[in-house]
Amino acid sequence: MKILGIETSCDETAVAVIDARPDGSFVPLANIVSSQVAMHERFGGVVPALAAREHAANVGPVFAQALAEAGITDPAHEVGLLAVTRGPGLGPALLVGLTFARTLAWKLGLPLVGADHMDGHIHSNWLGRTMPAAGLFPALNLVVSGGHTELVLMHDHGNYEILGETRDDAVGEAFDKVARLLELGYPGGPRISRLAADGNPAAFTLPRPMADSDTLDFSYSGLKTAVLYLIRDLGGTLTEQQKADIAASFQEAAVDVLISKTRRAAGMHPVRSLMLSGGVSANRLLRERLTSLATELGLPAFIPDMAYTGDNAAMIAVAAYFSHTRGVPAPDHVAMDANLRLGHNQ
Ligand code: KG4
Ligand code: ZN
Repeated sequence: MKILGIETSCDETAVAVIDARPDGSFVPLANIVSSQVAMHERFGGVVPALAAREHAANVGPVFAQALAEAGITDPAHEVGLLAVTRGPGLGPALLVGLTFARTLAWKLGLPLVGADHMDGHIHSNWLGRTMPAAGLFPALNLVVSGGHTELVLMHDHGNYEILGETRDDAVGEAFDKVARLLELGYPGGPRISRLAADGNPAAFTLPRPMADSDTLDFSYSGLKTAVLYLIRDLGGTLTEQQKADIAASFQEAAVDVLISKTRRAAGMHPVRSLMLSGGVSANRLLRERLTSLATELGLPAFIPDMAYTGDNAAMIAVAAYFSHTRGVPAPDHVAMDANLRLGHNQ
């Protein structure tokens, strides 16, 4: 069955067509992502009203491009299911995708499933490879993005237990804020990790907030503030080497906490696999450390293909496939929920 996904929760207008094959694989036939990053960069972050305006302008052309790339000329007959992100995300941005999807569902006479954005990120692991049909669950998911930092125990598709989450900033947000302090621009994550490659991670000692506490919750605002004070103590004007050393030291601290909490969670629950997802899963150090942790624990690790770490609509289509096949009825009117919580998505 071919599934067409639509994602407009933040600053990427994305439309994808995937083929859900009988062997359990999901083959992306088209995965179009139109990024607004350049437009938001001068504001240092995403401006919701501008994001909505751009989505409204782009969603039609991106949809047409996805159909063309997937070789679909008659979507009403060639596509079996429509999927759209219903939350969490920026309200005005989500509304554009939802309205487009609902109109399309009505026009084409196709069922429409609303998917949770974070459920989508988790399902990015099902793209670009054939996942084992058995032995995965419970899977311990480390879900890390610009808005979320969560440890999620996945008992099955759609059956999630949130073990811990951030009490303040998300880890991706911390990368973005530290990048701003280092005057690297937006989005900060990729720029910090690139700069960190030239720095010494032991150059500065930064705090590992809540790393030793019993809870599986996270806190990243203190780490960002520690970087702010460090820059001030260094006199405010930094050399290129100092910037690289700060980036490397910050990245080391941020990843350290993620890995130590994941290790702790794996010790507390009967886990059969580790999974990483969300925009921050593009971070090379994090990918390496999670792989090492899985080896240490004797568990398989699933880390998304780099093509699917950031926001995309293929992952939304996979998440929708699973909720559709487990019999969750596709609502007539998929409603937007900007504050939707994972595990309560239907
Ligand atoms: O999942 P995503 O694309 O959007 C949200 O749902 O938030 O995640 C975006 C976040 C941003 O904070 C960005 O800085 C971060 O992911 N990110 C990274 C890297 N690539 C993207 N953080 C650390 N290292 C990276 N290589
Ligand atoms: Zn995301």
